Amino acid sequence: MNNNFIKIGLYIHIPWCIKKCPYCDFNSYKQTKEHDINIEKSYIKHLLTDLQNNLYLIKDRKINTIFIGGGTPSLFHPNSIKFLIYAIKKKLKLLLTWKLQLK
Ligand SMILES: C[S@@+](CC[C@H](N)C(=O)[O-])C[C@H]1O[C@@H](n2cnc3c(N)ncnc32)[C@H](O)[C@@H]1O
Ligand code: SF4
Repeated sequence: MNNNFIKIGLYIHIPWCIKKCPYCDFNSYKQTKEHDINIEKSYIKHLLTDLQNNLYLIKDRKINTIFIGGGTPSLFHPNSIKFLIYAIKKKLKLLLTWKLQLK
């Protein structure tokens, strides 16, 4: 079956929060240091490697949404998010009208 016409949504998980809420069952952890650019860079590097290693699964299909969830992804420095999005755009075929959500 040819799935090329089915659009793909990319989900990126950033698992750190200011604190861990007692009721939370999600994959999230209290951040140990605020705005540690080295941790952010290292995590982004691993995300991009993971994406690269799995690109063969996507083949020619196009991405129409990118959702960055968590955790609390807004704890990342805006420059880290910008770098991540630029790097992803280079690797993926995005639709002309793609949408980004960061919560
Ligand atoms: C995992 S959080 C991620 C976004 C952000 N950190 C927040 O708290 O809004 C997404 C939503 O899941 C809810 N949530 C967390 N733990 C839950 C649980 N055990 N059962 C139901 N909802 C939960 C949170 O209250 C929040 O509204
Ligand atoms: S993901 Fe949201 S609900 Fe879970 S610990 Fe972080 S802030 Fe709390």
